[in-house]
Amino acid sequence: MTITSPLWGAELDHIRLDSADPAKLSAFYRDAFAMARQPLADGSILLRGAGRRLIIGTGAASSQPYSAFRFADQARLATYKAHLTARGVNPMPSPTPLFADGAFAVADPDGRQMVFGLINDTYDVEDETVGRHPPGRLQHVVVATANLAPMMAFYEDTLGFVATDHVLRDDEDDHAGGQTLTAVFYRSTPEHHSFAMFLSDDARPDHHAYEVSCWNDVRDWADHMATLEIKLWWGPGRHGPGNNLFFMVEDSDGHKVEISAELENMADDDPVRQWPHNERSLNLWGPGWMRV
Ligand SMILES: [Fe+2]
Repeated sequence: MTITSPLWGAELDHIRLDSADPAKLSAFYRDAFAMARQPLADGSILLRGAGRRLIIGTGAASSQPYSAFRFADQARLATYKAHLTARGVNPMPSPTPLFADGAFAVADPDGRQMVFGLINDTYDVEDETVGRHPPGRLQHVVVATANLAPMMAFYEDTLGFVATDHVLRDDEDDHAGGQTLTAVFYRSTPEHHSFAMFLSDDARPDHHAYEVSCWNDVRDWADHMATLEIKLWWGPGRHGPGNNLFFMVEDSDGHKVEISAELENMADDDPVRQWPHNERSLNLWGPGWMRV
């Protein structure tokens, strides 16, 4: 089987975080995640390091208004836009200055935007400073939602994300064996997930992650956090879905941010796998972060 989704090949390029104190939040990412700060014309702030970049703006505190995925070339982007239009989606103007003309956005059922486009060379200049930053490629973004069914329909059926893993909780008092989905992991490349969603009592950001090359990189980032007296919030551990090594810290607005390594790659014909909703699925090594 070959994956035929027109989204296939799209990679997470950047996200936007809004804050009541963007100066403080951007200073956190500059220091904790070794990124250079650059003011943008619209008043927001670009943070960029080796393989990673994000935009921090002024807005509703602790919100993450969009995630931006890049295509490799204009032909794939055009094919994808035609696919969405044929499904009745009305593309909106792109909110990001980091993509070239032709980028567009769509809103999911929770109101968060997904942006698709091509890199704008103006912001893709790798200066010497950024080249020397430690590794850490922005790799996935995760949201929490109270509306898992419509969100799944949108991300799978409309946008074309490919489901990799489901997490299921046994329904209490249901002797017929009913189960409730509590998390879904989606891929848009062979990597286990580039996007995921967790069932929660509210729509909110969950976390985003930087992928590094090996366990020693995870150690080095943890040592770096230690020099800044930033305590690890969760981990180190190893996730069940994705099998990746990880730890998380909280940024100055409380967003969870992950360093990850060894994220597994999937074959095109791998079926959706199922995991039980328990601590061990979330962390094979120890305590889990249970969203519900
Ligand atoms: Fe993650």
